[in-house]
Amino acid sequence: MNQFCVEGNKKLNGNVIISGSKNAALPILFMSILTNHKVKISNVPKLTDIDLAIQLLKYIGAEIKHQKCILIDPKPIKLICPPQNLISKIRGSIWMLAPLLTRFNQAKIFFPGGCQIGKRPIDLHLKGLKKLGATIRIKKNSIQAFITKRMKGTHILMEKISVGATVTIISAAVLAEGLTVIENAAREPEIVDIAKFLNTLGANITGAGNKKIFIKGVSKLNGGKHKVIPDRIETGTFLVAAAISKGRVICKKTEPKHLKQVLKKLSDSGAIIKFGKNWISLDMRGKRPHSVDISTAAYPGFPTDLLAQFTLLNSISKGKSKITETIFENRFMHVPQLIKMGANITTTQEKNIICCGVPKLFSKNVFSTDLRTSATLILAGCIAEGITQVHKIFHLFRGYEYFSKKLNLIGANIKRNNKK
Ligand code: UD1
Repeated sequence: MNQFCVEGNKKLNGNVIISGSKNAALPILFMSILTNHKVKISNVPKLTDIDLAIQLLKYIGAEIKHQKCILIDPKPIKLICPPQNLISKIRGSIWMLAPLLTRFNQAKIFFPGGCQIGKRPIDLHLKGLKKLGATIRIKKNSIQAFITKRMKGTHILMEKISVGATVTIISAAVLAEGLTVIENAAREPEIVDIAKFLNTLGANITGAGNKKIFIKGVSKLNGGKHKVIPDRIETGTFLVAAAISKGRVICKKTEPKHLKQVLKKLSDSGAIIKFGKNWISLDMRGKRPHSVDISTAAYPGFPTDLLAQFTLLNSISKGKSKITETIFENRFMHVPQLIKMGANITTTQEKNIICCGVPKLFSKNVFSTDLRTSATLILAGCIAEGITQVHKIFHLFRGYEYFSKKLNLIGANIKRNNKK
């Protein structure tokens, strides 16, 4: 099994170029199904989740050239049922449902996969589509959707904030007849980027980034070009890398506005934060961080995708801290692995993590359980005493482009070991 050998006791110093956002690029790629014209998407990260999305699009008939940018010709798409073996590997594959339905009046999608961080139902996606006029049939392992005429704009009040369901509803409403209003919509920067992409193609979406999004249906979409926003979670992960190693890291080609809460917490931990238009620097000036309390929330709150990395930060910080997860039910899979390495952590009622900071972690054989845990364990290895073996690293490649290479450039020593 593939694993990383991570040498410890490293101070991480230097520049990191931040990649494009996985969670924006994935839905944008799938939304190309909505048009018959060519689209060119740049700043798409090289990740296994993105490769899967491309395979899915190719399978249903899209012609794709993947060089520096991704060029998609969606005109030849003809299949309405992408294969289960690919669909079940990523969560984002659910975003094929609405575009296929819109384009072909029917679609069949197997249930999506992704990190096992909670129940992750798709009821809100389906409720939204029904409200717009679709008939949905759920089979044992698949969803079939039909429309007999163009979907019709409507008012949708989301009972819970969901990034995924907001994306699905936007992509169905773009070509529906009349106005759709989404209330209590997700406000994540990825939603804003998706709306920007669709508007480039001729959609009429306003309010993305606010709680209320207005989508005036248009009769067709054109082709166009789009550059994906920087990955705010990757940025946060590298800032934590600097903080835990008492180092100084400058993240370049990023967007400071997307990380306000995260920067506030890092500053509370004692880091000196500076930022400009598209860069952020974090300097610990050789000092051990103070622990910080965190409660995850939908954007603009603290991102659940940085919970594991901040657990590591608190594990080696001065003081006691509480982290509360409010979005997913199973986001604590990194905790037993960090405990193995010497962290003093307890969990309560499955919602809270209590950390009593220790001065040092120690190398162990640890196992990635999901995407964010994999990055966290590699960072833990960089500052632990000795050489840490991180197993099951395939999770990492789903969501971090050149992670070990980027860390090695700022002072880490991570080697990949492909032994059986
Ligand atoms: C997306 C991101 C993920 C991030 C999460 C929250 C992608 C590929 N994944 O996941 O990295 O952690 O947003 O920022 O972009 N829910 C329902 N019914 C639904 C949909 C969601 O109850 O139909 C619940 C979920 O179980 C969860 C909450 O709503 O408790 C938020 O989920 P959602 O925002 O939809 O997350 P994802 O889109 O799955």
